[in-house]
Amino acid sequence: MLLLKKEEMQRVYSMKEAVEAVKLAFKLFSEGKATVPLRTNIDVPKGAGGALFMPAYVEETESLGVKIVSVFPNNVKVGRPAVPATMVLLEPQTGEVCAIMDGTYLTQLRTGAAAGAATDLLSRKDASVGAIIGAGGQALYQLEAMLTVRELKEIRIFDVDAARAQSLVRSAGERWGKKGVRIALARSPEEAVDGADVITTVTTSKAPVFPGAKVKDGAHVNGIGSYTPQMQELPPDLLKRADRVFVDSREAVLSEAGDFIIPIKEGLFDASIISGEIGELVTAHTEGRSGDGEITVFKTVGIGVQDVVTAREIYKRALEAKVGLEVSL
Ligand SMILES: NC(=O)c1ccc[n+]([C@@H]2O[C@H](COP(=O)([O-])OP(=O)(O)OC[C@H]3O[C@@H](n4cnc5c(N)ncnc54)[C@H](O)[C@@H]3O)[C@@H](O)[C@H]2O)c1
Repeated sequence: MLLLKKEEMQRVYSMKEAVEAVKLAFKLFSEGKATVPLRTNIDVPKGAGGALFMPAYVEETESLGVKIVSVFPNNVKVGRPAVPATMVLLEPQTGEVCAIMDGTYLTQLRTGAAAGAATDLLSRKDASVGAIIGAGGQALYQLEAMLTVRELKEIRIFDVDAARAQSLVRSAGERWGKKGVRIALARSPEEAVDGADVITTVTTSKAPVFPGAKVKDGAHVNGIGSYTPQMQELPPDLLKRADRVFVDSREAVLSEAGDFIIPIKEGLFDASIISGEIGELVTAHTEGRSGDGEITVFKTVGIGVQDVVTAREIYKRALEAKVGLEVSL
């Protein structure tokens, strides 16, 4: 089996490729061509943590595997990652494990790619200003995805933790500044989203993270962060104002994302606000943006097909490029 580290995955596989892989994953998922059992969560009280197992199988792309993501907050005290993640990929012909790779980077890549896919399918082609709310572990890859699918001239970054936002402005500026992209620190969420064409929220918030009224007509918004019924990033007034609202999985979003669960419970709107799954847009089964003045929204909670399909592609590229450490048990 092949062991793949983050740097090796980055060497053989780009965000651009990941965006296309995730589009295909969403399409196959919405066509009912993916087997995605419910995630299994095991609480581990002794370690004050829990382990989450996310299996999936997609026959058409020969992608079979399980991502294991653990949440052990006390790890930080002993200098270990609080959310360690590993992807285990299997050969569908034999059931044998063929690769083990860095699941943290795979998550960052495929989550960035999900927003990248939606931004590519839904935002205005002439989008020039981006905004990112939340400057944590996922943010750099969200930024990379935005810049992969649109030629943005400026990206504004806001985080309630100003030091985190500043650090992202610095690292992103080093990478994209010389390519002519202005990476700017926003002092408030209003300043970040005012006039922006593409907005991505990637926080751990339990309340809307920007004022919906500040979003301009024609903007596209990606909601990435919320994945429990208590978490919320997207303002309900924006969802109501939006012309088209897409999700990765209708079922998962309606049972996991507070962005929808909270306002639906409050009677502000109902599930019919969702125009469709993003995979239906890839197959052109549903109409996307139909005019430059429309507001479009994409909400993702993340589904296992993104991991297995992307991981299989990375594995293939690594084999071709003879990258990674081959081991046998
Ligand atoms: N949709 C998916 O597929 C997917 C995949 C991975 C992670 N996530 C989720 O995305 C979220 C972000 O992940 P991360 O790894 O970057 O987390 P993180 O903890 O590293 O960073 C979150 C950041 O959000 C900031 N924040 C919190 N509330 C805010 C607010 N109201 N306004 C502005 N900033 C705020 C925090 O200060 C922090 O810097 C998490 O909830 C995570 O579970 C979703």
